[in-house]
Amino acid sequence: MTFKKGFLWGGATAANQFEGGWNEDGKGASVPDHIRGGTVDSPRLWDREIDPEVYYPSHEAVDFYHHYKEDIALYGEMGFKCFRLSVNWSRIYPTGMEETPNEKGLAFYHNVFAECRKYNIEPLVTISHYELPWGLSEKYNGWAGREVIGHFMRYAETLFNEYRDEVRYWLTFNEINNGVQSSGRILSLGMTGIDHKPMFGIQETPEEVNDRFTALHHQFVASALAVKKGHEINPDFQIGMMTIGHPVYAYTCNPDDVKAMNDEMNLRMYFCADVQVRGHYPYFAKRYFEDNGITVRTEPGDEEILKEGKVDFLSFSYYMSSASSADPDVTKAQGNMFAGVKNPYLKASEWGWQIDPKGLRILLNTFYARYEVPLMVVENGLGAVDERSEDGRFHDSYRIDYMRSHIEAMAEAVKDGVDLMGYTMWGCTDLVSASTGEMKKRYGLIYVDKHNDGSGDLHRERKDSFYWYKKVIASNGEEL
Ligand code: BG6
Repeated sequence: MTFKKGFLWGGATAANQFEGGWNEDGKGASVPDHIRGGTVDSPRLWDREIDPEVYYPSHEAVDFYHHYKEDIALYGEMGFKCFRLSVNWSRIYPTGMEETPNEKGLAFYHNVFAECRKYNIEPLVTISHYELPWGLSEKYNGWAGREVIGHFMRYAETLFNEYRDEVRYWLTFNEINNGVQSSGRILSLGMTGIDHKPMFGIQETPEEVNDRFTALHHQFVASALAVKKGHEINPDFQIGMMTIGHPVYAYTCNPDDVKAMNDEMNLRMYFCADVQVRGHYPYFAKRYFEDNGITVRTEPGDEEILKEGKVDFLSFSYYMSSASSADPDVTKAQGNMFAGVKNPYLKASEWGWQIDPKGLRILLNTFYARYEVPLMVVENGLGAVDERSEDGRFHDSYRIDYMRSHIEAMAEAVKDGVDLMGYTMWGCTDLVSASTGEMKKRYGLIYVDKHNDGSGDLHRERKDSFYWYKKVIASNGEEL
């Protein structure tokens, strides 16, 4: 067998894209509850005041809040070993600032974990997946305010104590490296306090860049404190970091392109992982900050905290790769969080994301060589338009091909010697897209009747990929 015994096969979701029930049972608003839907050509916009006339995709999402038993039963039917979900912070602490948690919010996740247990599914919980409570965003300009660390710690400690015996695997922040670019301001760092309307493509002032890197630093400190506290509460906890896995190739062998690739890899792939896995900022950070005139607000003792809060494993999302060039005029490719130069050797998805299974093998090797900690692929999949066939079913062979090629690449990486813990494909049940807010872009093995305008009766249906993935899991990845 290539994949180890107990390999964590499963699927991944995020509360704001999946749960709905945005204001039920005491839940407060989170940042994504203020963001409208969009498309690739018209970016999502955020509103300071929620407009009752406007459709906000997170408000109902695909209503896992009321369908969790049915959804988890379907995961059980596929034989999932692991279900990655995030807890919605504002369901537990509605504004982020309460002294005591919302009992009904806590009860919901107890129910979810009990359902997982029924089918022997191990939950993998992301503590913060693009879901900062709106109250913290408004009061502190999101993570730019150091006070948010304390609020996060109260929330994380509540989860660790409450679910001490129900959850073993945790991730602190989803795609933390999104914060190294301006696109990460709103979703990752909750920095809506400046008057910018679109979610992406923000032009920042030098002060705003300082704030952003300070916000990222606060997340590093918060993550490290949480790792330490989690291990005190239950020494069996496995607490990982989560980063966007997006390898970059030099567009040509011109040394200028190779240098551009190096710089991009350093900032995007290694900057955050170095802090969270090695426990300190990378050697190149000082010069990067100097060259870009960046000042990060730190406090005495922070270095010690980072050193003491190293993660147990490194997890990442993997959808695509891109190229890098010193020439600003080369053609660019679309991407979700990171974009880059178009690679002429690769085909792309309907959303322009360049499909590159070999890149996954390369990245697994690159990460493992540098960090030598267990790795886990916690998101991967194909966002596509699914059309119902004449026989009334969804024959998503393109999704099967995508997943098969990526699992094959993982198998090669394992044979190369990489220690791989598991694979949770993204959006096992169709859910809202993070970058565009669309429903039309589907990743699921399970179809949900819900559409871009919010219509649909939310019923679930198995796609062909559902039956295929079931076989993959039953054979521990041998039958592809
Ligand atoms: C990752 C995020 O960036 O990619 C998910 O962690 C997101 O939240 C996923 O949904 C796919 O991106 P998108 O934009 O197609 O939903």
